[in-house]
Amino acid sequence: FGDGSGGGRSRSERPQRRLPHVLIIGVRKCGTRALLEMLNLHPRIVKASGEVHFFDRDDNYRRGLEFYRAKMPESYERQITIEKSPSYFVTSEASERIRAMNASIKLLLIVREPVVRAISDYTQLRSHTPTRVPSNASSPSHDQSFEELAVRADGTINESYRPIALSIYHNFMSIWLETFSRSQILIVSGDTLITRPATELAKIESFLNIEPRLGPRNFYFNKTKGFYCIKNASADKCLKDTKGRKHPDVNPDVISKLRRFFSSHNQKFYELVGEDFGWPE
Ligand code: A3P
Repeated sequence: FGDGSGGGRSRSERPQRRLPHVLIIGVRKCGTRALLEMLNLHPRIVKASGEVHFFDRDDNYRRGLEFYRAKMPESYERQITIEKSPSYFVTSEASERIRAMNASIKLLLIVREPVVRAISDYTQLRSHTPTRVPSNASSPSHDQSFEELAVRADGTINESYRPIALSIYHNFMSIWLETFSRSQILIVSGDTLITRPATELAKIESFLNIEPRLGPRNFYFNKTKGFYCIKNASADKCLKDTKGRKHPDVNPDVISKLRRFFSSHNQKFYELVGEDFGWPE
């Protein structure tokens, strides 16, 4: 992406809509929105505001790349367009489709300690569940506790419960590594993005080969929210209340059981990507 300075434009240049140069492919509930909003503070980066779901939804994909391009913001030539749709990571067709668009695209995957991610996922699903669920509902009811959904009556972990399944990162990662080279994918720590956002963003600026413009001055901790909020010359905001929800208290024995369950899966993921995230066992 060049190594010049600033996000500026030449005087005669007109902005255009461009296909993304970078995608945030997932994982859901790992901080994908925070990552997108934080990156958007950089003058060289412009974001598509909503989740476009182009590569994971057949009806969108069939509409073709011009449909996709029309969903992108206007940008100048030196800028990088970025889109995030977290379901790309877990959709089997997505990686091939992305490669067909641009084989040298750069991908950002944000991950988070898998047990906390599963609880965050449960918390979101429960917030969307009406309080009275029809008795013939076939999908799991999020009126039930996390413990009931994640652990079967016989004490085994319910791997087919989606919040658990989506935390088994290596199951999905292997497909991406068959499609793209490891050097095209940066794995961002969602755990560090929460506690030290500037540290994670510096790694991303370097990966994208753009000048370092984001630093501690762009982040301030908001005690009421319990998370960092963001600012630059034109923006000063916290993420919405749907980001940073209060999680239910989960039985510590269930947490320990899940940590043991994920331990071998996490090792597989570390080996696959060549990086150790140090998640508790
Ligand atoms: P919780 O709401 O469970 O705490 P996503 O955007 O992929 O859905 O991820 C949501 C998660 O982003 C939140 O999960 C929260 O922990 C995390 N996050 C990271 N940085 C944040 C920030 N600065 N403000 C709010 N949430 C943040």
